[in-house]
Amino acid sequence: MASVKEEREARAEAVRRVEREKPALEFGSAWEYSPAPESRDHVRLDERYGLFIGGKFVAPKSRKYFATINPATEEKLADVAEAGAADVDAAVRAAEDAYRKRWSRLKPADRGKYVYRIARILQEKSRELAIIESMDGGKPIKESRDVDVPLVVAHFFYHAGWADKLEYAFPRHAVSPIGVCGQIIPWNFPLLMAAWKIAPAISCGNTVVLKPAETTPLTAMALAKVCEEADLPPGVVNIVTGAGETGAALVNHPRVNKIAFTGSTDVGKIIQRATAGTGKRLTLELGGKAANIVFEDAAIDQAVEGIINGIYFNQGHVCCAGSRLLVQESIADTLLQKLSDRIATLRMGDPLDKNTDVGAINSKMQLDKIRELVACGVEEGAELHQSSCAIPSKGYWFPPSFFTGVAQSHRIAREEIFGPVLSVMTFRTPEEAVEKANNIPYGLSAGVWTDKGSKIFKITSKMRAGVVWANTFNKFDPSSPFGGYKESGFGREGGVHGLRAYVELS
Ligand code: NAI
Ligand code: MG
Repeated sequence: MASVKEEREARAEAVRRVEREKPALEFGSAWEYSPAPESRDHVRLDERYGLFIGGKFVAPKSRKYFATINPATEEKLADVAEAGAADVDAAVRAAEDAYRKRWSRLKPADRGKYVYRIARILQEKSRELAIIESMDGGKPIKESRDVDVPLVVAHFFYHAGWADKLEYAFPRHAVSPIGVCGQIIPWNFPLLMAAWKIAPAISCGNTVVLKPAETTPLTAMALAKVCEEADLPPGVVNIVTGAGETGAALVNHPRVNKIAFTGSTDVGKIIQRATAGTGKRLTLELGGKAANIVFEDAAIDQAVEGIINGIYFNQGHVCCAGSRLLVQESIADTLLQKLSDRIATLRMGDPLDKNTDVGAINSKMQLDKIRELVACGVEEGAELHQSSCAIPSKGYWFPPSFFTGVAQSHRIAREEIFGPVLSVMTFRTPEEAVEKANNIPYGLSAGVWTDKGSKIFKITSKMRAGVVWANTFNKFDPSSPFGGYKESGFGREGGVHGLRAYVELS
């Protein structure tokens, strides 16, 4: 009689055979479901976008434009302005002017009304924004529609409420704004990162110059239009598109009072050096290599869903992704079998299809980085397990994958892969789990799965991570602070802690 393990292997092999034998499918290849693509008919994109400075879209003085593409199809979506130093200067001056003449003088309650208005308009446009986000960045519509955009709206509503209550957030202090804030954001949560940056800044009375990532500028442009529609005083929000040079011009501009950055640790270090000694305030939210720790007493099926959500969610383009799985040795075989069975059911394909679980990798550059690190993992002796799902012929894709036989010294156990690739390690005792979890240069997030409340408290209090989820993963709320330890950066975003970055206290 075949053992359970052999039976499972036979079943898995049968699934793999079906996968291998099915014809190469185009988008909508979701296994047993018919395609259910979200219509993009009502989404209007401009052919070319200017810079949003002083409340108007203006042509860049640099006269340069660059294309943003859909990473799932490689089709060009629009041309976007590349802001040069003179353009960044114009944006900073517009922000300074708006700060002095209008925004810092406005009654806090009136400031709040503008932010509420932005929140309401964003809510009305939710569907359109979700579609643009998925087209420009490759994330599944399920994510942009159900996670990103609702959180964007929640962030504006939440912070609007604080505008006239700041003295309650900081009792016994006089609270005042800082001035012009330069904000630089990445491509993994384009509109959500814009909301995390802009909503607290303007609610506290500051004005901003935001620089979106070069591969995902379109929802920021849509947000600029929302600011116009909300009649926000000109210059309170300015948006300059471009790549690293544009970001550097903003960081180095002498009239910027604060820099907020989310992105790679390498660029974070450059920015920290550039701002040192200038008097500019700085918050950095950088990389991560979160440990998801599963104890033998955990509810295993829930933990498997949490692991899936933690690393394959948004193609692993998540700084707080649960990219390391630490599983207690006694349940490792069972859990890994369940995990690989579950991965085999994930649907990769058209981001606009409502059935899609895993979308496109954001850019060719990111795909190359993932491939390089995965190749390195294989070379270093870890064992690669990959979903055999069909890969669309165009666009940038990487199948959900995990590594076993990972040593702590492997690059795949230490470096941010920022793709749908999980590194699995085992442990025997809680002490060993904590030690392994903390033994990296990062400290952004972590997860703990156990049946025992006491164990949750014991373990989480020893973790050097800004956020620790217990029996869940990747849950966000505007009232909950987010940020890191060590090379994951400093400062918090969200909640009362997040407001602190945007006020002067005396
Ligand atoms: P990046 O750090 O280069 O880009 C983030 C933002 O910084 C973008 O808007 C970019 O234009 C801007 N930027 C680049 N160089 C700059 C400079 N010298 N001064 C000011 N702004 C600058 O990240 P990249 O190259 O897109 O991704 C590389 C790796 O970084 C990823 O593979 C991932 O590991 C990590 N990453 C982490 C993120 C996080 O949320 N913590 C987000 C994006 C990437
Ligand atoms: Mg794009």
